[in-house]
Amino acid sequence: MSISFHENSKEFHLYNDEISYIIKILRNGQPGHVYYGRRLHDREDFGYLVEYARRDMAPYPYEGESKFTLEHLRQEYPTYGSGDTRYPAFELERADGSRVADFKYKSHNIFKGKKTLEGLPATYVETDDEADTLELVLEDEILQTQIILSYTIYEELPVLTKNVRFVCENTEGVTLLNCMSGCLDLPDRNYEMTELAGSWIRERHVHTRKLNYGIQSVYSMRGCSSHQFNPFIMLRRENTDEFSGEALGFSLVYSGDFLAQVEVDTYDVTRVVLGIHPNEFRWELKDGESFQTPEMVMVYSDKGSNGMSQVFHKLYRTRLARGKWRDKERPVLINNWEATYFDFDEEKILNIAGRAKELGIELFVLDDGWFGKRNTDNCSLGDWYPNLEKLPGGIKGLAQKIENMGMKFGLWFEPEMTNKDSDLFRAHPDWLLADIRRNYCHSRNQYVLDFSKQEVVDYIYAQMRKILKEAPVSYIKWDMNRAFSEVFSNGNDKVYQGKVRHKYILGVYSLYERLIQEFPDILFESCASGGARFDPGMLYYAPQAWTSDNTDAVDRIKIQYGTSFAYPLSSMGSHVSASPNHQARRSTSLDMRANVAYFGTFGYELDITKLPEEELKVMKRQIEFMKKHRALIQKGTFYRLQSPFESNSSAWMVVSEDGVEALMAYFRITQPANGKFERIYLKGLEPSAEYHVCEQFGAEMDYGDFCGDELMYAGVSVSDSSAGLAGVAWNQQGDNFSRLFYINKN
Ligand code: DGJ
Repeated sequence: MSISFHENSKEFHLYNDEISYIIKILRNGQPGHVYYGRRLHDREDFGYLVEYARRDMAPYPYEGESKFTLEHLRQEYPTYGSGDTRYPAFELERADGSRVADFKYKSHNIFKGKKTLEGLPATYVETDDEADTLELVLEDEILQTQIILSYTIYEELPVLTKNVRFVCENTEGVTLLNCMSGCLDLPDRNYEMTELAGSWIRERHVHTRKLNYGIQSVYSMRGCSSHQFNPFIMLRRENTDEFSGEALGFSLVYSGDFLAQVEVDTYDVTRVVLGIHPNEFRWELKDGESFQTPEMVMVYSDKGSNGMSQVFHKLYRTRLARGKWRDKERPVLINNWEATYFDFDEEKILNIAGRAKELGIELFVLDDGWFGKRNTDNCSLGDWYPNLEKLPGGIKGLAQKIENMGMKFGLWFEPEMTNKDSDLFRAHPDWLLADIRRNYCHSRNQYVLDFSKQEVVDYIYAQMRKILKEAPVSYIKWDMNRAFSEVFSNGNDKVYQGKVRHKYILGVYSLYERLIQEFPDILFESCASGGARFDPGMLYYAPQAWTSDNTDAVDRIKIQYGTSFAYPLSSMGSHVSASPNHQARRSTSLDMRANVAYFGTFGYELDITKLPEEELKVMKRQIEFMKKHRALIQKGTFYRLQSPFESNSSAWMVVSEDGVEALMAYFRITQPANGKFERIYLKGLEPSAEYHVCEQFGAEMDYGDFCGDELMYAGVSVSDSSAGLAGVAWNQQGDNFSRLFYINKN
């Protein structure tokens, strides 16, 4: 891995064994983009890759030199006011209203390692040998402002990260109107764009469209990364599949409003930008102040989209997630939400916990409803003291009892919200993130607290800290159950309003950071009405996230499959819940529910005190199974084998880090009558090694020994052996059927 600077050609070449990224300082001083893709050998001058061409009507900065026009030159951080009439990567406004800018290369700095971003989540290195960083310093002398473009290339991964810092040295100040975290101009438009789109209980479904002229984008203006879109896109060639061909992944390490936009101009140049959504963003910088953008992560894969995902998994699992729980096996938990909702008391909770302990569950999580007078969702958010009618010994008493049973105790909070019926709201109505002089929207009977204000963050911190100091809490589920609607910071001026949305998320990050530093043993799980904040920003603080409020096994296949495009299994909270399922009203077998939930951080979320003995016996075995295999699942390499978005059946597998064992799950939604023959081709095995294959649960079949090449190239049969005749074979299961194969090297 290296970053070379060629003085004569003014080119920077960032490369490792897999990728190259090349920048050239153009003759007007702006950094131009030359190349991003598979590794190229280094050479003094790649200037021939920059295409200077005259195009009629295109503006050009040098009189008589119409071939030098920014209208179609590929650039690193394009600006308004240079002749480029495409969407710029940033916009600055001077005190007199001028938005024209001309940032030129001033200096650069190349160093080993990677800097942290103050107040923001970001990928990191453990030793400086793991990555090299280039900082390009650009300056606009008239604006007296600098832009520092930062690029880090990882040694062992085809990963390049970008971020931008603006530094104002202008006595009049400047105002940032837009500041993307990075830009990539690609030389053609022959890509398909994949995005993860959905809604509550239908998060991160995979959608793909062919790039076309103009803008295509995904975004959030909801204050959280959202159920609707995810701060991730993939561009892939038309012939790219899961395992071969080019796939370019783009991800933003941010949890607030974002924009991921692809613009194709009519010369077929494709411009990708990711960053904070410019809607309502207006950041005034005074002399001496600076602004730091979030980080954009780019993954290059020539091993298909699954290859891209595996890189994201490794990076996000090992160099974004932090703390004690990053590498530790996650506890099998039980959460009382779908078991009791708000209707519980200590006795009920202890009954569930007692039964859970007998089954081998390690962590009991008390969800919503334990504080203030919260028996419905219309009160008490913000009043983080225990409801002594429900829990006479408070959280301390309950947590202690659960610890005494030999289990750990976890607790739900929703720190960023309040209800009108709460002590907090009665004392501080102006703490709402809403224009309180007007009507403002309701959502789940709750309102967003203004986390841009330090005093609000401090108040919530003090309440949470008190509980965490006095009770043995080992896990926190941090929820966020409504989107922003009318954002206004009461008592603050106009200049402040342009900063509120970003300051809010900085406030959330700062509270997380304080708690993590003070309580490093606590495992955090982020959540936002299920998966509305399943983003890389959150993973920096909470190594796992509640994937969706939809716990139905069939729906979860799509949700978890889509989530796996950017996020590792170790981050996906997945629970076995009741059948019929509470969201989808669908019935599925206990096997099927567990076979989906194993592929994540496993737990249960149903009233186990009401289940028949035989189901409890199965659960006990499931828990033993998960404990035995969780290291493989959490740290192994994940392969998507068959897409649930494309057919009635789907499959995925995970291979352990050392390649010694693997688990493959197959799911079939509707029972075909007299169905076709079907095979799943495994991945990631050694062709010449011998493996033993057996089927878990349901079938309990031992299939014997096979070589890796047989399993990968000839495949594993998952055909329905009875061709639709009822009662003939074990695998004649009807709809919503699953199979789980354990494969281990002899
Ligand atoms: C939404 C979460 O996603 C659920 O799991 C649960 O915690 C509820 N909120 C509680 O209000």
